[in-house]
Amino acid sequence: MSLLNSLFPGVAVVTGAGGTDPLTQESSVGIGAAVARAFAAAGCEKIAITDVNPSTLEQTRQSVAADHPKVQLFSHAGSVAEDRFAQSFIDQVVKKFGRVDYAVNCAGVLGLPMRSAETSLEEFDRVNNINYRGCWLSSRAQLKQMVSQKPLPSHDPNRPPQRGAVVNIASQLGIVSRPNAPAYCASKSAIIGLSRADAIDYSADGIRVNCVCPGVIETPLVMEKKEVREAITPAVEIAPMKRMGKPEEVADAVLFLCSTQASFVQGHAMVVDGGYITV
Ligand SMILES: NC(=O)c1ccc[n+]([C@@H]2O[C@H](COP(=O)([O-])OP(=O)(O)OC[C@H]3O[C@@H](n4cnc5c(N)ncnc54)[C@H](O)[C@@H]3O)[C@@H](O)[C@H]2O)c1
Repeated sequence: MSLLNSLFPGVAVVTGAGGTDPLTQESSVGIGAAVARAFAAAGCEKIAITDVNPSTLEQTRQSVAADHPKVQLFSHAGSVAEDRFAQSFIDQVVKKFGRVDYAVNCAGVLGLPMRSAETSLEEFDRVNNINYRGCWLSSRAQLKQMVSQKPLPSHDPNRPPQRGAVVNIASQLGIVSRPNAPAYCASKSAIIGLSRADAIDYSADGIRVNCVCPGVIETPLVMEKKEVREAITPAVEIAPMKRMGKPEEVADAVLFLCSTQASFVQGHAMVVDGGYITV
């Protein structure tokens, strides 16, 4: 039986948490915003969120605060592609909350639709600097903190305590590719490789590192632009479930991987795609 009131007694950190669509007033939220909301709904009382977009980040903060007034929220805008910001954000979270237990790296961008020969170096670097390098910079700062802290007990006294859990958001396009997206697909494959490598290196520290590979999810990233909506339609038709996923469906997978219920899940790439990669 659980000795804890919540599966999440520790501190959650979410990057890319500003995906609250200003046009649709939250009818479409990003995966990071959905993860922040899911942590609050699951009883996590210390949540830190960041995003490069200060106004949508503030919308996420207000939405979580309105629904969960007991939650202590720390919110600070900046770019995960900047080494100094990625580290200073975690330093500020530790100053405020004392530790980092569940780190979810959602910040990401799509690339321009082009084959490699037409892709500029600037475009390749833009996508990789945010998606892959930004994920590494964020998780490096998170792991540095996690190794230095005492573990928290598991929800199940028969299982080992947990010093921390990192969940990186990759994509189904890190496993299979699609036309005209070389930089994006490669950036997401790199996140899967990074998560596996960190899982190996941090197992002995009681830290788990996994990633989630979403399929087509109804978020501002895909809903805001007509050309993106049109480009993803074939992928929705190919997937056996023939619909877009909800950000909340991805958030549920993320929370499972962060929790001590996933105590023996390590270096895994969990696909949440309505069956897309199976066909
Ligand atoms: N929506 C999908 O279909 C889908 C599918 C697979 C993977 N993903 C991945 O899920 C993650 C979340 O995407 P989403 O669909 O929720 O989109 P989203 O646009 O709603 O969320 C991404 C967030 O990242 C933020 N961001 C962009 N650059 C940043 C930077 N330099 N520093 C900090 N934050 C930055 C954006 O402002 C945005 O709020 C991304 O990594 C994306 O690649 C999305």
